[in-house]
Amino acid sequence: MPEYCVTGGTGFIAAHLIRALLAAGHTVRATVRDPEDEGKVGFLWELEGAAERLTLLRADLLVEGSFDEAVRGVDGVFHTASPVVVAGGGKDDVQGELVDPIVRGAANVLRSCARAPGRARRLVFTSSCSCVRYCHAATLNESHWSDADYCKSYNGSRVD
Ligand SMILES: NC(=O)c1ccc[n+]([C@@H]2O[C@H](COP(=O)([O-])OP(=O)(O)OC[C@H]3O[C@@H](n4cnc5c(N)ncnc54)[C@H](OP(=O)(O)O)[C@@H]3O)[C@@H](O)[C@H]2O)c1
Repeated sequence: MPEYCVTGGTGFIAAHLIRALLAAGHTVRATVRDPEDEGKVGFLWELEGAAERLTLLRADLLVEGSFDEAVRGVDGVFHTASPVVVAGGGKDDVQGELVDPIVRGAANVLRSCARAPGRARRLVFTSSCSCVRYCHAATLNESHWSDADYCKSYNGSRVD
């Protein structure tokens, strides 16, 4: 059976992914920031098949090499780990708390995949419609990206 890595295992999308992958009989390596934090990871151990086919590994988006072990030998990677901002819950330091972890984290995960022997054949990256929706176009397609200046003013702080 194939084996998959899911980053950000405690997250909303990741938890549903892990449940679906386990239910399909797959083996899952999920990354979390603290595998010992029962309050955060405890529900994952209650998923069907978790005791037999789930492994939790420690990884942080901002730590280079953090994902090496998690992606080693897997057939595919679902990269969902990300700081998330929801309306009304803006961050003071957008660059440090949002942009850096997202950009550096994605690069770290990709580098870990590139280094891994028997490289993962496919990586799925859950991005956001926010990347495209904040621009001045009536209809959106692959050529559209959010207007960075508008996003900066929307959050009330600079992102350089
Ligand atoms: N949910 C949606 O409807 C939706 C829709 C469109 C796009 N997306 C995108 O999908 C991705 C995941 O969304 P989600 O709703 O599942 O988010 P979520 O529930 O907030 O989960 C985010 C996960 O990322 C982890 N994380 C945050 N910072 C980290 C860091 N520095 N190092 C390692 N892990 C870190 C969190 O770990 P902790 O538990 O330790 O904080 C958490 O497990 C995001 O990129 C989001 O923009 C989501």
